[in-house]
Amino acid sequence: MIKIKKTNISTINSACHELAKGSLIAFPTETVYGLGADATNDTAVAKIFSNKERPSFNPLIVHISSIDQAQKISIFNEKIENLTDKFWPGPLTIILEKTKDSKISPLVSAGLKTIALRQPNNKTALSLIKKFKKPIAAPSANKFGFLSPTSASHVKKQFTNNDDISFIIDDGKTNIGIESTVLGLNLENKVIIYRHGGITKEEIEETINEKVSTFTIDDSSNKIKISPGMIKKHYAPKVSLRINALEAQDNEIFIGFGSEYSEPNLSKRGDLNEAAANLFFLLEKYEDEGKSICIAPIPNKGIGAAINDRLERASS
Ligand code: TXA
Ligand code: MG
Repeated sequence: MIKIKKTNISTINSACHELAKGSLIAFPTETVYGLGADATNDTAVAKIFSNKERPSFNPLIVHISSIDQAQKISIFNEKIENLTDKFWPGPLTIILEKTKDSKISPLVSAGLKTIALRQPNNKTALSLIKKFKKPIAAPSANKFGFLSPTSASHVKKQFTNNDDISFIIDDGKTNIGIESTVLGLNLENKVIIYRHGGITKEEIEETINEKVSTFTIDDSSNKIKISPGMIKKHYAPKVSLRINALEAQDNEIFIGFGSEYSEPNLSKRGDLNEAAANLFFLLEKYEDEGKSICIAPIPNKGIGAAINDRLERASS
C-alpha cells in the first residue's frame, strides 16, 4: 500500500531523498496531483510511463521552481517572457525549444525537440522542486486515460500495490481541479493552445494583445504526434457519462450546474471556477457508486471551455 504523508518540511526532505534515489513521488499542485520523477534520470522517468501505463510517445510536463531554472533548459523569447511574468507560478504549461545542454532525459519529450514547462502555484510543489534543485517531470498522477486526481486519496486509489511510488504528499483538495492550459508558438511566433485549462484563452489574448488559436485537426493520429493531450477519449470516468443533460434518466446520477439544480452540483452559484475545482472530484465520487453519470450544460466561456473539453473527451 502506498503511504500518504501530510505535507511539512520533513515530508518534503524525505521526498527529495526518494527522488534522488530514482523513486517516484506523488505531489500536489494547484491543478491536479502530479506523479513526479527526477527529470534528468532516464530510469526514473521510465517508471512514470510504466506506472501510468502511458504510451511512451506521450511527453511529460517538467515542473520548475523559477523562471531562471526554466531558462537553463529552454529558450525564451519576449512573448514567452510576457506570459511567464503574468501567469507563473500558475496553471500555464509552455512548450519551448530545449537547450542543447539541458540534461533533461530525452524520454521526457518522447522524441520531440521541445519541452513542456510549468511553474506550479502550490507551496509544497515549489518547495519540493526548490529543495530538490533539479526539475521534476510529472504528468497527472492517474492511470493513462482516467480521471486526473484532485486529492491524495484519489491518487492512492489508482495506484494500489505499487513499489515504485515511495509515497504521496497530501495537501488536501487541489484549488483549480483541472489541468493546466498547454500552449506553444508556431513558426510565425503565434500562440496556439493545445489544451484548454486553468488559464483561459481570453486571459492569454489580453496579456499578449493578439488573437490566439486553438489547435484542432480531426486526424487523431496526427494529434498524437503534436500534443497527445488532444487525443479524443481521455480523462474518462469508469462509468458512462452523458453531457448537456437536462434531467436524469433511469439509473443515472445527475450533476447540476447553477441555482436551478439541487445537489450534487458543480456550482450552485453558477461560478465556473468553482465548477472546475469540483469536476474531477465529483466524477470520481460518483463513478465509485457504479451508476451512469449525466451532467448539466456548462457555459462555454472562460474556464468553461476547459470543462467542456474534458467532458466531451470523457463522454466520447
Ligand atoms: O496541470 C497539469 O498540467 C498537471 C500537473 C501535474 O502539472 N500535469 C498534467 O500532465 O496534466 P500530463 O502529462 O497529464 O499532460 C501533459 C500534456 C499532455 O497533453 C502532453 O501531450 C502535452 O502536455 N505535452 C507535454 N510535452 C509536450 C511537448 N513537448 N509538445 C507538445 N505537447 C506536450
Ligand atoms: Mg494527464
